[in-house]
Amino acid sequence: MPDAHRRLIVVSNRVGPLVSGGKAGGLAVAMADALQERGGVWFGWSGDLSESGTWSQIRTEVHGEGPTAITLATLDMTEEDHAQFYEGYANRVLWPLMHYRTDLIDYEPRDEEGYRRVNQRFATRLAAHVRPGDMIWVQDYHYLTFAQQLRMAEINNRIGFFLHIPFPPPDVFNVLPRADGMLRALLAYDVLGFQTRRDADNMIALMESEGGERTGEDTIHVMGRDLTVKAFPIAIDARSFAELAATEEAQIAQARAERLLNGRQQIIGVDRIDYSKGLPERFMGFKKLLEDYPENSGRVSFLQIAPPSRGTLDAYARIREELEQISGHVNGRFGDIDWVPIRFTTRGQPRSALAGLYRASRVGLVTPLRDGMNLVAKEYVAAQEPDDPGVLVLSQFAGAAEQMTEALIVNPYSDGDIAEGIQTALRMEKTERIDRYQALMERLVTNDVNAWRHSYLTALDR
Ligand code: G6P
Repeated sequence: MPDAHRRLIVVSNRVGPLVSGGKAGGLAVAMADALQERGGVWFGWSGDLSESGTWSQIRTEVHGEGPTAITLATLDMTEEDHAQFYEGYANRVLWPLMHYRTDLIDYEPRDEEGYRRVNQRFATRLAAHVRPGDMIWVQDYHYLTFAQQLRMAEINNRIGFFLHIPFPPPDVFNVLPRADGMLRALLAYDVLGFQTRRDADNMIALMESEGGERTGEDTIHVMGRDLTVKAFPIAIDARSFAELAATEEAQIAQARAERLLNGRQQIIGVDRIDYSKGLPERFMGFKKLLEDYPENSGRVSFLQIAPPSRGTLDAYARIREELEQISGHVNGRFGDIDWVPIRFTTRGQPRSALAGLYRASRVGLVTPLRDGMNLVAKEYVAAQEPDDPGVLVLSQFAGAAEQMTEALIVNPYSDGDIAEGIQTALRMEKTERIDRYQALMERLVTNDVNAWRHSYLTALDR
C-alpha cells in the first residue's frame, strides 16, 4: 500500500464539512470521502473573511484519532483577496475558460495579482508545517500556482495537482492572458491529474505545443521538467451511498415525495445554479417532452433542486431569474389544478434526503453543457432500488459520460434530444433498466472513491 504510511496534506479552497450538508460542491464531498479511510491534513480557506490587511493564524480542528484522524487546518482571507482571487480570477476567468465559455471571461490584471498573492500566502503558511516525506495534494483551479510558491519556499516534497473541472484544448486555453505563465506554474507539480482522458490529452497537446516530448504513456518532458499527466476519474463511495438511500431519513424523504407524486413519475435534477449545468436548456427539454409526447401530461413531474452559488457574480444571478421565468411559463401553460409540471427549489437538501429523492425518481436528469465529472450522475445510480431502478439521462459533455456508457447519452444543447432521452427512460422496460443499472453499479463499486485516491497517490508516491 504505497500511500499508507506517509502523511498526506490535501489543499483545496473549500475545506470540509466532513459530513456534508446540502450545499457542498462535488469537490468537498469527494475529498471528505477520500480522507475518511486514509486520514491526513486538509488545508485551505476557512470560509471566513478577516479584517483588511490582516491574515489569521492557521486554525486546526482534529476529527477522529490514530492514523486515520483528519486535521482540518484553515485560514481566513481578506475581503480584497476574496474579491480578486475567488470572485475575480478563479470564477470570472478560470471557471468560464475551463468550461469553454470564453465569451464570459472578464479578465483584470489586478485579479490575477490577487490570485497569485493568495496562492503565495497560503503556500507560505503551509510551508512552515511541511515535514520531509509528506505528500502534498493540491485540488482544483483555485490553486494553479500553489506548487510554484511552495518550491520558492524550498519545499522539495512530491506535490500533485488534481483538476476537478474540465481542461480545454490549447486554442481555448490560450485565450487566457499570460497563458504561458500559468502553464509554467503548473510545471512545478510532479503529477497533473484530470477527470477524463480528453482533459489529460488537452494538457498533453498544450505541452507538446510548447516543445514537450512524451517519455511514456503518462509521462512527459517539458521545459526541463518531468511530469506525470494522467486521467483519474473521480468517484463516490458507492456502497455507502447505496446504504444511505436505505436509511430511515432517506425513506422519509422518499415517502414524502411519493405522497406528493400520487402515482406520477418523477424526473429529478440536482445542481448548483451555474451556467455550466445547462439548466435553462434542461427546462426547455422538459417543455419539449410535454409538447412532443403529450401522453406525459399530468403523469410526470420534474423536480429541480438548485442551491444558489456565487450569487454576487452577474452570470449566476441571471440564470436564477431565467429559471424562474421558464418554470413559471411551463407551469402556467401545461399545469393543472392538481399537477405542477416543474417544481423548482433553491433550497439545498441533506444528503440522506437527496438519496431518498433519487430513489423516488424514475429518471435522473444530468445535462450539463460542460462538466468535469458530475457526481450527481453517480449518486443517482448508487441510490436506486436494485429491483426497480430508475434511468440516468446524461449529457455527452459531462466527464461521467466517458465511464457511464449504459446511461442514455444526450446532447444538452438540443431540447429534442433531451425530450427523447427522457421519453425513452420513462418507457423503458424493467429488465432493461435492471441490466443498465447493474452494469453501471458494478463499475461504481469497483472504481470507488478509495480506488481513486489510491491510484492518484500511487502515481504521486513514486
Ligand atoms: C465545483 C468546483 C469546486 C467548488 C464547488 C463549489 O465543484 O470544482 O472547487 O468548491 O464547485 O463552488 P464554490 O465556488 O461554492 O466553492
